[in-house]
Amino acid sequence: MYYPDDVIEEVRARNDIVDVISQYVTLKKKGANYFGLCPFHNEKSPSFSVSPGKQMYYCFGCGAGGNVITFIMEYENYSFGEALKYLADRAGITLPEAEDSKEARAQRDLKNTLLEINRLAANYFYYQLKQPQGRPGYEYLKNRRLTDETITHFGLGFANKTPDDLYRYMRSKGYDDSILKETGLFFIEERGARDKFWNRVMFPILDVNNRVIGFGGRVMGDGEPKYLNSPETKLFDKSRNLFGLNFARKSREKYLLICEGYMDVIAMHQAGFTNAVASLGTAFTAQHALLLKRYTDQAVLTYDSDGAGIRAALRAIPILKEAGISAKVLNMKPYKDPDEFIKNLGREEFQKRIDEAVNSFLFEISVIRSEYNMQDPESKTGFYNAVAKKLLEFPEKLERDNYTEAVAREYMIPAEDLKRLVNSLGERGGFALRTPEQERPKKKKEKDDGVRKSQRLLLTWLIEEPKLFETIRGIITPEDFTDELYKRAAGLVFDEYEKNGSIEPARVLNHFIEGDEQYREAAALFNARLDESLSNEEQRKAFSETIKKIKRFSLEERSKKASDIRELQEIIRQKSELNNLQLTLE
Ligand code: UTP
Ligand code: MN
Repeated sequence: MYYPDDVIEEVRARNDIVDVISQYVTLKKKGANYFGLCPFHNEKSPSFSVSPGKQMYYCFGCGAGGNVITFIMEYENYSFGEALKYLADRAGITLPEAEDSKEARAQRDLKNTLLEINRLAANYFYYQLKQPQGRPGYEYLKNRRLTDETITHFGLGFANKTPDDLYRYMRSKGYDDSILKETGLFFIEERGARDKFWNRVMFPILDVNNRVIGFGGRVMGDGEPKYLNSPETKLFDKSRNLFGLNFARKSREKYLLICEGYMDVIAMHQAGFTNAVASLGTAFTAQHALLLKRYTDQAVLTYDSDGAGIRAALRAIPILKEAGISAKVLNMKPYKDPDEFIKNLGREEFQKRIDEAVNSFLFEISVIRSEYNMQDPESKTGFYNAVAKKLLEFPEKLERDNYTEAVAREYMIPAEDLKRLVNSLGERGGFALRTPEQERPKKKKEKDDGVRKSQRLLLTWLIEEPKLFETIRGIITPEDFTDELYKRAAGLVFDEYEKNGSIEPARVLNHFIEGDEQYREAAALFNARLDESLSNEEQRKAFSETIKKIKRFSLEERSKKASDIRELQEIIRQKSELNNLQLTLE
């Protein structure tokens, strides 16, 4: 272990989970717990709970759960060590030095080592750019009108023409193939190893905490592929990172600019638009939107002006909307992308285009409009119908009316006529015009059978009412739980009770954080939904049923494995005892 258990526990215990999570999520008290919108999935009504008693969080929608340490790990994308450091600082605790050797560290914290290698690689590429052999790269960037400040600010670099330059450098630093394989920077085969990137200008990709998580490399001039990107690794999840967000999050603008490429982000930042970000060689995802939502609720799409850019905007708009971000679309014409636009017309013109950016709905309508021929009466009618149908996407009458008026003005359609068309289409279609469907939380697939559910119920019950331990004493032991994770969690819970007479589930979770990262599953074990509407009598019955179910299943499993007759007899005896069992609950 990195740090002694008691150090980890002290850091955990001195950071109240409600305080910490409140820094990130707006929480409202409801009964004994706090609720808010889950930061780990898209939702409109709160199913994310934080329990001050258990010092745990749990989302009934997506199943995310854990203690204060895992929250910081998941939210900040930190490794265990980083999260611990952050929380220790927050509580004014000085962590002891963790004793360290390169191999041991690699074993314990793969992610930290990968970060270290990426950081070294970025420095190496940057260094090469300034060497004689990096001259072509430097000149390429200069030709694209990047200043030295910009090159340094973004840490741009150069991968040499030699095919295994970086590989040899990393080996000289003492990293072996097994770890280098995980970085995505090399092809390592039996015949030998090669660098993934060579003879390219290099763009390091930083996460919001300024850590290098991957790279993009561009050919200088024409060539395929134009950009080569790091593959997804343990560090690099393309759908959860945006290029430039590390800077953009600190910009003072109320909105973010979303574009398609590395060079666009860099050109915009250089021109003073430091609020620009790009999704990296992948379509914009719901996770991207969720990430942005932490910083803003307004976005301006500055995608390329070509067909692909328009399609990308049309795809991104509903995703942003779903996450609660309102979008506008910037008109780039006659240029292809922000980089070209700024080069040709300058920053003031670009700012003007931002100010003139159209509301995403009106943009969608303008795209529809381009598909119809307004000279042809039939086609024109088709356009009106398409507009009316699109307007029906607004479930609220007031909002729908506002947009109907805006569209009518823009396309010179009499507003009353358009409203009538919208209403009649709505009634005929029978779709919209009613209040939005009651949102139901996305249920996690309950693939496990009833027994596992019973086991979760029992653990949750025991944690909330430790005196129940006395009721089950001699009947249920951790060995009665089915799989390894359940057994281990139950073992820890039972031990805690024997030692302290109470259980701190968040402390138990410490055991599941490092290495195996099973804390999510473990958190679910302590957060089964207890039905609070049951009467005492019903609760008693439910509890006793739960106990019997778990024990019966455990005995059956044992009898399947039993190897001698005496053991079988013992199992049969216990089974019949179970049938006559009367639990004494007060
Ligand atoms: P573009 O082709 O529009 O790139 O692709 P760009 O940023 O304008 O490139 P320059 O100005 O020619 O240098 C947009 C983005 O799509 C990804 C990259 O992230 C790029 O920035 N892409 C593009 C790739 O990943 N691979 C490719 O081969 C091309
Ligand atoms: Mn470009």
